[in-house]
Amino acid sequence: MANTLRITLDDCQALDQADPLRALREQFALPQGMVYLDGNSLGALPKAAKARVQHALVEQWGQGLIGSWNKAGWAQLPHSVGDKIARLLGARPGEVVVADNTSVNLYKVLSVAMQMAVAENPTRRVVLSERLSFPTDLYIMESLCRQHKLELQLLDAPEIIAQLSDEVAVLALTHVNYRSGEMYDMASVGKAAHAVGVLTVWDLAHSIGAVALDLHRGEADFAVGCGYKYLNGGPGAPAFVWAHPRHTDRFWQPLAGWWGHAEPFAFKPDYQPASGITRFQSGTPPVLSLIALDCGLDSVLVAEPLGGMAALRTKSLALSSLFIDLFDQRLVEHGFGLATPRDSSRRGSQVSLTRAEGGYAIVQALIERGVVGDFRAAGQKGEDEILRFGFAPLYVGFTDIWHAVDQLCEVMQSGQWKASRFAQRQLVT
Ligand SMILES: Cc1ncc(COP(=O)(O)O)c(C=O)c1O
Repeated sequence: MANTLRITLDDCQALDQADPLRALREQFALPQGMVYLDGNSLGALPKAAKARVQHALVEQWGQGLIGSWNKAGWAQLPHSVGDKIARLLGARPGEVVVADNTSVNLYKVLSVAMQMAVAENPTRRVVLSERLSFPTDLYIMESLCRQHKLELQLLDAPEIIAQLSDEVAVLALTHVNYRSGEMYDMASVGKAAHAVGVLTVWDLAHSIGAVALDLHRGEADFAVGCGYKYLNGGPGAPAFVWAHPRHTDRFWQPLAGWWGHAEPFAFKPDYQPASGITRFQSGTPPVLSLIALDCGLDSVLVAEPLGGMAALRTKSLALSSLFIDLFDQRLVEHGFGLATPRDSSRRGSQVSLTRAEGGYAIVQALIERGVVGDFRAAGQKGEDEILRFGFAPLYVGFTDIWHAVDQLCEVMQSGQWKASRFAQRQLVT
């Protein structure tokens, strides 16, 4: 139901005043005057990261050199940072490791899940997923299905549960869809999948740090996710891997490398996988990026005394609900549609607007006015274009939402978005 009372800037300022999390924004080095609504793509820079990375560069690398692998604890970073991530996943210490990127980690866990499922029941020949999953997930699934001679079945989200059967080996889903911001109920999907013996693999790229997660309660088998969105780990931050502890020691992951070996510094010629999640590492960890990610995680975990992920989620939903109310009041008339569910239990931390055309130019015109969102082109089945607005509850305020909508209205009313300079597409949209 649309909110019928006209929302004002004063209302939004009052919401900011009453926000118990508002001081957390001070942790970030955000540009003055910018409304940053793209933390679902690249999170903001925590001020602490500058000093920590500089220390690691100048002291640990510059002075400590090779000795820093031991003295500065570099070798433990994939686990110590993984333990911080575990706190956001409802996982236990030692269950998460940080390595590589989401695509590579997806390759590892999907490969293991496929091997496990087929070893148990060779008649399971299908990998099931959603048609509008993030493309890298689809490419990795396609590649692995070719290798393992399995069939990839891609469906629309509402059709998936009904297709679970004893022919399905693995169900691989993105928890929060990158286009629509729609979120699956992990617990009910996990239960339905396990009822027919299907293993679940979750991509948590748009969930970690944005919604409260509980992988054990959700009956998840494997999960991966990235560090550069709501975890504020910086551009290209490494990703994480979680596997249910009952699965970790059963199969080799396909990228068996020396950092996943039981004794990497024994330099043995044959591969002996480490036990537990450690075996999901492959090569040398990216130390400087791990240190930046560690700072990003601290910027999220600092909210624990204030209610942690539950409190962040409450604020995130209040922000997205406000955006949707303002959409009803001010944006519908400009030809936008809403791709994101109104039901708050079914949305992540972004709201996506649809538009038949002009979406890219509109986002560019908005960015010129200091409001940063992003754009995703129409899908291959003739879907609308998507304008995405992400609400990182650590640093986005209610007044930001008001200004974003206000500026979007001005962009549309003035027709400014039609200027030719906004039509020239850059590589990253
Ligand atoms: C859902 C999802 N999965 C995977 C990726 C890509 O991960 P990476 O480039 O770190 O491999 C993204 C990137 O935005 C994403 O949104």
